[in-house]
Amino acid sequence: MIAPKSSLKSLTPYVPGRSLESVYQEKGIHAIKLASNESLWGPSPRAIESAKQSLDQLATYPEAHFAPLYELLGSLHGFSADHIIAGNGADELLQVIALTYASPGDEVIYPVPSFSAYRHGTLLTGANPVEVGLNSEGAPNLQEVQAKITPKTRLIFLCSPNNPTGGILHQEEWQSFLRTLPESVLVVVDQAYYEFVEDPSYAELTQDILADRPVIMVRTLSKIYGLAALRIGWAAGPVSLISVLRTMRPPFSVSRTASAAAEAALLDQHYIARVREATLEAREYMMSEFRRRGYRFWPSQANFVTIELESEAQAVAEKLEAEGYVTRPAANFGLPRHLRVTVAPIPVLEGFFRALDHISGMTR
Ligand SMILES: Cc1ncc(COP(=O)(O)O)c(C=O)c1O
Repeated sequence: MIAPKSSLKSLTPYVPGRSLESVYQEKGIHAIKLASNESLWGPSPRAIESAKQSLDQLATYPEAHFAPLYELLGSLHGFSADHIIAGNGADELLQVIALTYASPGDEVIYPVPSFSAYRHGTLLTGANPVEVGLNSEGAPNLQEVQAKITPKTRLIFLCSPNNPTGGILHQEEWQSFLRTLPESVLVVVDQAYYEFVEDPSYAELTQDILADRPVIMVRTLSKIYGLAALRIGWAAGPVSLISVLRTMRPPFSVSRTASAAAEAALLDQHYIARVREATLEAREYMMSEFRRRGYRFWPSQANFVTIELESEAQAVAEKLEAEGYVTRPAANFGLPRHLRVTVAPIPVLEGFFRALDHISGMTR
């Protein structure tokens, strides 16, 4: 039988957080999912309404690129519509960017442990993966990135806040990194958890993009906007780069329902501000509760906290699941003794900590 191209030999399937349906089927438990950094506050009711209204038009193709959505994303974030592209989740955009800019024999740098899409996208292109570590804050180590840039480097993926550690790139280190970057290299900064950042020294990229630096930021409506099921993310970058990506991306990868819900969700910033406030309060609560119990973790600027255990996290996750809480063992990030837990409303977290305490004789 025909084999896939050799560069794909080490490709492994994406391991998603365990679904509540599968937990119910296996164990008959109605569990709460704290495994995939979704929003437990859900989307704006206006987004749901708008999605429902879009169903009148199921028989017709959506737009290839929704102009009003691009206008709205641009105006909310300081860009013109020409700087924007939407996609079938941030996932698709990360893949399209890799396929557009990296070729076999090139080098693509990305951090580890981090989101698996960077490695996956790199392998799809046939380019050579070059992995770098994190700094002590759990953010990509820019000094190591800099040291690994060669004439073959084409693309650099960074994640800020980084999944699964929650550390961010700071403005000062980012600017000095950008100053030394060769012109032939594109930097893609995945900011899926952007809206949860509180630290004022966070590296913002808008001015760099407006100044036509080779930088693309990738965002999503799957996290704070609560639209993960509809698959919609977006990216902003210099107009010349975005126009190429618009040609590369498959024409109908954003559905009319996703676009309609996204527009309504983006317009309801009042709702998002409330979710943000509640998430940040719950994150503080969660970190202080973990601290109180003596767990080590990276202080997080995202909507999850990843703790270190003294034993394999898989076994602890299974016990928590039996108590009704689905969490994410971080083994496939290369962290077998770490467990990632999504920030949830405080009453949910109270239940989670009761469950953790219940099994704690076995956890630490
Ligand atoms: C860092 C990071 N980027 C991108 C994504 C995927 O986003 P989307 O749902 O828009 O594909 C995730 C999802 O967990 C993520 O953690």
